[in-house]
Amino acid sequence: MAIKVNNLKFSYGEKETLKGVNVHIKKGKFTGILGPNGCGKSTFLKNVLGYLKSNSGNVKINNIDRDEVSKKEIAKIISLVPQKSNLMATMSVEDFVLMGRLPHLKSSWSGYTKEDKNMASENLKFLGLDKFKERIALSLSGGEFQRVLLARALTQNPEILLLDEPTSALDLNHAVELLNRVKTLVQDKELTSVAVLHDLNLASMFCDELIIMKDGKVAYQGTPKEVLTEEILKEVYNLKSKVLKDENGYPYVIPLI
Ligand SMILES: Nc1ncnc2c1ncn2[C@@H]1O[C@H](COP(=O)(O)OP(=O)(O)OP(=O)(O)O)[C@@H](O)[C@H]1O
Ligand SMILES: [Mg+2]
Repeated sequence: MAIKVNNLKFSYGEKETLKGVNVHIKKGKFTGILGPNGCGKSTFLKNVLGYLKSNSGNVKINNIDRDEVSKKEIAKIISLVPQKSNLMATMSVEDFVLMGRLPHLKSSWSGYTKEDKNMASENLKFLGLDKFKERIALSLSGGEFQRVLLARALTQNPEILLLDEPTSALDLNHAVELLNRVKTLVQDKELTSVAVLHDLNLASMFCDELIIMKDGKVAYQGTPKEVLTEEILKEVYNLKSKVLKDENGYPYVIPLI
């Protein structure tokens, strides 16, 4: 089941940004969300989580109606790596990552348990961030901090992981490594992951399914082979391109000037 969204609408003030989004994000898959700047991708993720209050429509997360449970209950199931974050970055990397355990604390005054600390520590190691754990999060480089955001989201131990441009500050090697780690969790631990990506070729390599948004709606949904076509890229991005296939038939996109 994972996420089912029905006729979701949202406005910032007068301007309607989501104009009736209908989509089914499948459990245990890695889904990419693509689309031009400003088409509503980040707004969509924030609406799914309930950070922004939709005007109308309905979001079901693993068969639970999102509006019928508390934010804390939602946070036990789903975590977000945001596009931007300056939240509490004055704390140490280790403490910042431990914040992922907050939704799981028995009460707001019970401290972190040994298991909580172990989980934070394992995720720091998993993402090669162990060496930074005593640093002030604010002092990390953009790319290092972006990986710390993922470590915090994984420490939340979610069934569903939402990533908003998780590789935007990463060099190609770290971008591939991060997506590969997420893909491993999807394949081995049945994690459901949804990532907003701008790199069409990374999306093609790593995602099982792609959702292409345009102007506040889902324009296309399908496998990379189905939706990464020259016609669709021209229509959605107004981009002239040549779409080639690698030896496994996966599309890769060469923009034409
Ligand atoms: N707080 C806000 N107040 C008013 N308008 C907003 C606000 N946040 C976003 N918008 C507008 O809503 C539209 C969708 O924004 P959103 O951040 O969802 O786009 P996006 O698809 O994630 O784009 P990008 O690829 O650039 O991250 C944009 O036109 C943006 O300017
Ligand atoms: Mg965005």
